[in-house]
Amino acid sequence: MSKAQRDIKIEHSAQAAARTATQIFKEITTKAIERRGVCHISLAGGTTPRRLYELLAETSTTDEVPWSRTEVFFGDERDVPLDDVDSNYHMVQRTLLDNAPVDWSRVHAMRADAEDIDAAAEEYEATIRHLLPPDDEGIPQFDLMLLGLGGDGHTASLFPGCEETLNETEKLVTSCYVPVLGRRRMTITFPVINASRQVLMLITGNDKAEIVKRLFGEGDESLPAGRVTPRHGNMTVVLDADAARLL
Ligand code: 6PG
Repeated sequence: MSKAQRDIKIEHSAQAAARTATQIFKEITTKAIERRGVCHISLAGGTTPRRLYELLAETSTTDEVPWSRTEVFFGDERDVPLDDVDSNYHMVQRTLLDNAPVDWSRVHAMRADAEDIDAAAEEYEATIRHLLPPDDEGIPQFDLMLLGLGGDGHTASLFPGCEETLNETEKLVTSCYVPVLGRRRMTITFPVINASRQVLMLITGNDKAEIVKRLFGEGDESLPAGRVTPRHGNMTVVLDADAARLL
């Protein structure tokens, strides 16, 4: 994706970056509801989005997000039970979902702890296909795809070296063994990421400066996150000064 199509916002602190992301989140969700009466979002795991989720859970913001008409999905999940401290669902539940007026029937956890993770991935994909409207190429379209960035350039659970998963063109959700972790993951794939109406990537912290420079400063498209090129052109990257210090 050309840099011109990426809107990069650099904030002075991680908290300011989370506040900017909160504003963008509110704008996207309210616009989706105004236009279509429902909003479809995919949330990121890890640690970076915690501040965003905590801000979204604060009363003022909660009132401004149409949670009762928002379908909540997850971009990836670890192969642990949903109540495990390592679960992305668990993190989102504790920071956001337990503190916002969500419709729990519209919260869709990824069951990467399932006995048959491949069947669980197929089931998750079927739910996405059933609930989301298709884009101009017939791919289910999220209104908001929230992503993070790993220090190795992964996003969701699309890791360097996992070529079959990175090159997946048909499946929207798949499972993969990640050698560097020694664990399996469930993840959405690039076809559904790149069909999204809006991608929001939130990256903070000094430890991300090098990978941010490679990805956005040098345009290193060999990195998995370099393949995030939303076809509908809307991608916003929100950074704090620490993560952006080498740009
Ligand atoms: C996960 C995430 C993953 C995350 C990056 C960054 O399951 O870990 O979905 O893609 O966004 O690893 O993680 P941090 O925010 O913890 O740096």
